[in-house]
Amino acid sequence: QANMQWGGRFAAGPAAIMNEINASISFDQALWRQDIRGSLAHAAMLCKVGIISADDLKAIEGGLAGIAAEIEQGTFPFSDALEDIHMNIEARLSERIGEAGKRLHTARSRNDQVATDFRLWVRDAIDGVVAQTESLMATLAKRALENASQPMPGFTHLQIAQPVTFGHHLLAYVEMLGRDRSRLLDGRRRLNQSPLGSAALAGTSFPIDRHMTAQALGFDGPTRNSLDAVSDRDFALEFLGALSIQAMHLSRLAEEIVQWTSTPFNFASLSDAFTTGSSIMPQKRNPDAAELVRGKTGRITGDFIALLTVMKGLPLAYAKDSQEDKEPVFDAVRAITLSLAAMDGMVADITPNRERMREMAGAAFATATDLADWLVRELKVPFRTAHHVTGQLVAMAEKRDVALEQLPLEDMRTVEPRIHQGIYSVLDVDSSLASRTSFGGTAPENVRCAAQEWLARLNQA
Ligand code: ARG
Repeated sequence: QANMQWGGRFAAGPAAIMNEINASISFDQALWRQDIRGSLAHAAMLCKVGIISADDLKAIEGGLAGIAAEIEQGTFPFSDALEDIHMNIEARLSERIGEAGKRLHTARSRNDQVATDFRLWVRDAIDGVVAQTESLMATLAKRALENASQPMPGFTHLQIAQPVTFGHHLLAYVEMLGRDRSRLLDGRRRLNQSPLGSAALAGTSFPIDRHMTAQALGFDGPTRNSLDAVSDRDFALEFLGALSIQAMHLSRLAEEIVQWTSTPFNFASLSDAFTTGSSIMPQKRNPDAAELVRGKTGRITGDFIALLTVMKGLPLAYAKDSQEDKEPVFDAVRAITLSLAAMDGMVADITPNRERMREMAGAAFATATDLADWLVRELKVPFRTAHHVTGQLVAMAEKRDVALEQLPLEDMRTVEPRIHQGIYSVLDVDSSLASRTSFGGTAPENVRCAAQEWLARLNQA
């Protein structure tokens, strides 16, 4: 039997596999709220410009409300043969209200309809991810304030480099997430134009008011070119691109949590709430949630590449390939939503091992740069020379298996005779930290200010 939405031209129905590859209802039913919202705006506009009657509008509004209730209650008869959410709802509307339902699709195509629905869905998703991002930023900033003077080793090449504070380290992620947030909002601004009324590809001969529907749906205005409006998906790509970058940031933090809580690092621990055990090794405590945040980054990046690849060869305007736009976006949103929530929980949960972090902050001659800086400041030695002198002192300490501050003054003087007692004042971890007061540096005072600034900006102070 031919399709009821376009059967006029068809003698026979589709092959079973045609239906199977074509139908998107299994996943695009997620768009039902947006689809109804778009239809309500479209119908109100059709009525206002005189294309449908006020009675028709009333019937459509009532019918769509009934459909919304059916979907919410789980009684809506979703049908694969009706392909997608748009035709499922439209067919059901006609079933419920007859003629008026059949007028709804005037001056509209599924092409502008799906582009509109999907923009509305992505816009909501952006708002959700932004809210979660702000929550995680606030949690990080709170933990940073609490750890503004807690020393930990700063690394480069994963080799102990210079002491930093744990608070400073956490605030680095607040900065990254702040940029992630602004990328999302930036994409939201560009997304916020209404494709509705672009019709199939060329616009319509009906006297529609696209400004009216745009406004009703919370868009800043209508899109300016009908071909572009029905065929481009860059709003979804921008969103996935922003999520890929954000997931990469979350993955780095997750990786650090895995390292910090590892037995050899022993910098921090997660409570039972964020730890799993082993089915065979009774002693194990595994940071699975952190590992999964790290792991989910793979699928989010994959989702971005998947849609980018779908879009890259499509001629204007719409082609059915575009139906492949939804699942990657849904998948990425599910993954980032879980990741942000789990990360928020872990950051609130994690307990630093204060003694161990402090001990490692000063290990491996971590204050050697402070020593070189002292030579420059006190003895007016050029930095490159100071670097060399310090290197010799480190070699001496290493040979004796002692820390820099354990080298006696007379031995240091064999390398540079002008060194005096004052040098010992810069070799301990706390002095090193306190001295890093340059803007953006790790000094506890800086960290406290920066954390408080973020908390105020995030309205949590
Ligand atoms: N389900 C389709 C999609 O998601 C809706 C648009 C179909 N348009 C068409 N001309 N076949 O892209």
